[in-house]
Amino acid sequence: ASRTELAGKSVIVTAGGTVERLDPVRFLTNDSSGKMGFALAEAAANRGADVTLIAARTTAPPIEGVKLIRVESAQEMLQAVLERYDSADLVIKAAAVADYRPVSQAPTKIKKNEEKLVLELERTTDILKTLGERKTHQFLVGFAAETERVAEYAMSKLARKNCDLLVANDVSEEGAGFNVDTNVVQVFGEEGLIESLPQLPKREVAERLLERIVQRMRTKAAG
Ligand code: PMT
Repeated sequence: ASRTELAGKSVIVTAGGTVERLDPVRFLTNDSSGKMGFALAEAAANRGADVTLIAARTTAPPIEGVKLIRVESAQEMLQAVLERYDSADLVIKAAAVADYRPVSQAPTKIKKNEEKLVLELERTTDILKTLGERKTHQFLVGFAAETERVAEYAMSKLARKNCDLLVANDVSEEGAGFNVDTNVVQVFGEEGLIESLPQLPKREVAERLLERIVQRMRTKAAG
């Protein structure tokens, strides 16, 4: 039976690893497959939401009933999210966004000549932080990929980026994080740790997260 908890709600999910180009044939990216974000988009759609999935580089197959928007760089993802942010009720930022991009993009293929080539990188805009600053009615869910001091860094990200919930994964743990079919997550709210989930398939993690999100959105709306 189809569910309706999010009927009439507009949801944005970001997924995948952004691609930052060096030249026409080379780029910097990361190991994100998009599986976590795609599973979240599907779980939201299953609850009746109108879902837009903004995806960078992914290997996950498209989802029926979910609007898919392809982007490449952090900058393109920022623009795609901001264009839709005012009308969104819920935003889930599962994408692995580059923190740095090449200062310049060579218009033609970079040729080899010197022994060493130094790449100059500059910071990208933090999309989640930007959304946190511009938040009005939206429910904002961030992710944190950590390898140490998970709770401490997660709580710091939650506060700095003005998130309603923050989902932390220890990406050094086996069966968790980038490019695997399972994840191990901890969910934080402003009061601290809310829930620690065991290792589960990403689809199941997404179901559990959506249940928690729906519950907290109701509490927030009730005021
Ligand atoms: O795609 P999969 O292979 O299924 O893997 C899932 C995942 C490991 C990518 C996912 O579970 C995850 O942890 N996503 C967030 C990865 C990440 O970029 O974490 P972070 O701690 O560097 O960033 C924290 C948050 O800020 C994230 O919500 C990120 O989307 C956001 N961010 C980061 C940098 C930036 N410039 N803009 C952002 O919005």
